[in-house]
Amino acid sequence: MTCRVIRQMLAGLINVVALAALAFFATGTGALAVPKPVIEQANGGQCVAEPAFMRRNHMKLLKHQRDDTLRGGDRSGAHSLQACITCHASKETHSVNASPTNFCQSCHSYAAVKIDCFECHSSKPKDAFSKVKEKP
Ligand code: HEC
Ligand code: HEC
Ligand code: HEC
Repeated sequence: MTCRVIRQMLAGLINVVALAALAFFATGTGALAVPKPVIEQANGGQCVAEPAFMRRNHMKLLKHQRDDTLRGGDRSGAHSLQACITCHASKETHSVNASPTNFCQSCHSYAAVKIDCFECHSSKPKDAFSKVKEKP
């Protein structure tokens, strides 16, 4: 065996050991686990429900509110999307959806969730329907 081959074998062995150590740390201590999404702080006030509840159920509240508005004509909406945006818009982009760290984006990209809501709804406070030319 040439010196070079031995050196290559040694290098391979070291790689295997390093990988095993990495796997051990990743599962054992969680130190190398995927970082959790950073969720931007709300602009004060209290959420429409407990944050823990919201984390799991916000999509149901939003869809329910939409159905009430579209079919029932209720625009007083306790779970209105505009309200979410007013409290949760980023201080930098003034949006919930303009940069990867913005409120409605951070978790969704982490969880690989895609929403189409902001194709029609503005992601910024106030001009909620700037993109919807004609209200039904
Ligand atoms: C009056 C302001 C206000 C309104 C309106 C509001 N929120 Fe919140 N929301 C908060 C606050 C305050 C928290 C607690 C966490 C914080 O301080 O950032 C929170 C937490 C959350 C969380 C959990 C975030 C986490 O840290 O895991 C979600 C999800 C959420 N809100 C979604 C919504 C949605 C969707 C709506 C509209 C239906 C909405 N919120 C309306 C203020 C608000
Ligand atoms: C094709 C355009 C379009 C898309 C996409 C869309 N919406 Fe809407 N949405 C509307 C229109 C139009 C209204 C009615 C506005 C009105 O009558 O005040 C509405 C109303 C609502 C309302 C009730 C009014 C309010 O501000 O609370 C909610 C909640 C809502 N939509 C949530 C959503 C959510 C969540 C998504 C994504 C899952 C979504 N919408 C996607 C067009 C759209
Ligand atoms: C704390 C993390 C987190 C935040 C913040 C968050 N979401 Fe979500 N959202 C999720 C997760 C996770 C799912 C997927 C849940 C599932 O598949 O059961 C989801 C799903 C949704 C869905 C349903 C998508 C579908 O395909 O049916 C809508 C609509 C939605 N989110 C809207 C919003 C809006 C609007 C905001 C900002 C106001 C927001 N979310 C903020 C974590 C979050």
